[in-house]
Amino acid sequence: MNLKHRLDEHEVFLRVARVSERLGLETYVVGGYVRDLILGRPSKDIDFTCVGSGIELAQQVASTYEEHVPLSVFKNFGTAMLKLQDWELEFVGARKESYRLESRKPIVEDGTLLEDLERRDFTINAMAISLNPSNYGELIDPFDGLGDMKRKLIKTPLEPGITFSDDPLRMLRAVRFAAQLNFDIEADTFFALSENASRLQIISGERIIDELNKVILTSKPSYGFKLLFASRLLHEFFPELVELQGVDSVDDKSHKDNFYHTLQVLDNVCQFSADLWLRWAAILHDIAKPATKRFNPKVGWTFHGHEDKGARMTPGIFRRLKLPMDDRMKYVQKLVKLHLRPIALVKDEVTDSALRRLLFDAGDDIDDLMKLCRADITSKNNKKVQKYLDNFDKVEKKLLEVEEKDQVRNFQPPISGEEIMETFGISPSKIIGDIKEEIKEAILEGRIQNNPEEARNLMMKIALEKGLSPQSKS
Ligand code: CTP
Repeated sequence: MNLKHRLDEHEVFLRVARVSERLGLETYVVGGYVRDLILGRPSKDIDFTCVGSGIELAQQVASTYEEHVPLSVFKNFGTAMLKLQDWELEFVGARKESYRLESRKPIVEDGTLLEDLERRDFTINAMAISLNPSNYGELIDPFDGLGDMKRKLIKTPLEPGITFSDDPLRMLRAVRFAAQLNFDIEADTFFALSENASRLQIISGERIIDELNKVILTSKPSYGFKLLFASRLLHEFFPELVELQGVDSVDDKSHKDNFYHTLQVLDNVCQFSADLWLRWAAILHDIAKPATKRFNPKVGWTFHGHEDKGARMTPGIFRRLKLPMDDRMKYVQKLVKLHLRPIALVKDEVTDSALRRLLFDAGDDIDDLMKLCRADITSKNNKKVQKYLDNFDKVEKKLLEVEEKDQVRNFQPPISGEEIMETFGISPSKIIGDIKEEIKEAILEGRIQNNPEEARNLMMKIALEKGLSPQSKS
């Protein structure tokens, strides 16, 4: 296969080819760029491998531009990077050992192109395009990566045990590429995942979560999670999710399999949102079901309080998985905690105060919460699903009405602590918080309107009951 016409799309390939020829090097485009070019996925990262010094090649290429192009050299790793607007060009000498850009081990041994390609992770990532005069544009594909692309297979170029022991993270990369490209994992490669799963333990949490998040950001992440589960990779770093799998039965009463339910909710949420954190909320929404599961002979299986316990588990899971411990964690925690609340509002006789309380608790995340709740309806009975969704439409309408009237979605206390202190001539103390809390409660309960006048009147009444009297103004 000759891909010359595709290389003509960017001037840089011919430029690198000319410099390489001048230096007497053999140079190739390799790895992900070649894969993506053939698959028609746009990519702005180009890896060049030459038999010789990648650093010298990069320096010479940089010097052919009239304008300044930023060049970073990593001597220890024998690599150099050029930035051309939003393109990133990486230059490296072909090497005999495992090809890992992020490896901390310095590169010691130079190798041939074939030696370089065979130490890469998958056949679809072990193809090269020649930039040499004799066969410019020709695809070099010693492991039939093209065939695996047609067969839609993720397969290692060498015996999978060798490829995975070079870098165990590649086991997660196998699942990630399968999920992103909607490919299968070839049987021997898949078998080696289960065989070597425990070797993930030596991989840093940061590298693991990077791959997992890429799986979560695919259009149907349930597929990637099923591969992670079946290969037992998931068991190595996310046991809480594994725990959700399984169905218990007592007296013919069974509960649903919460692992597959969670995956379905995740897929559903992905239809409405590309946001990673809403997707994480879907993953964790039922995470405490195993811990709260009880059997009651009268009502069957219950999971009372799983939303609160799940919210309490969220920071620990985030910390261990090296997810951010900031507002994003708080957001996920909030959605996990509130995920049952909208369902409780489906009843016709729901009060305005219940609606106001949900708006107050969810704040600006109310719309995402409703998306999660809609995604949480996973009955096989379409009529039932439709009935629930219609009910949610009604809840959303009521929420809108209440919000328009009372504006509690981003509740700001209508009376400030300073005003209370000034009015009664008191210094900071617990009583101020108590007064503010009572005013907030009265607004949420609908006893007073959400405005400063009514709040001020109530403040006077509460203060009087507490034995405070207003300071006379001199
Ligand atoms: N590679 C490898 N083993 C790894 C990481 C990378 O063999 N653990 C090789 C593969 O040939 C890969 C290339 O290095 O194609 C570039 O790696 P990277 O930039 O991480 O991946 P891409 O394949 O470009 O894909 P993506 O950008 O989606 O991560």
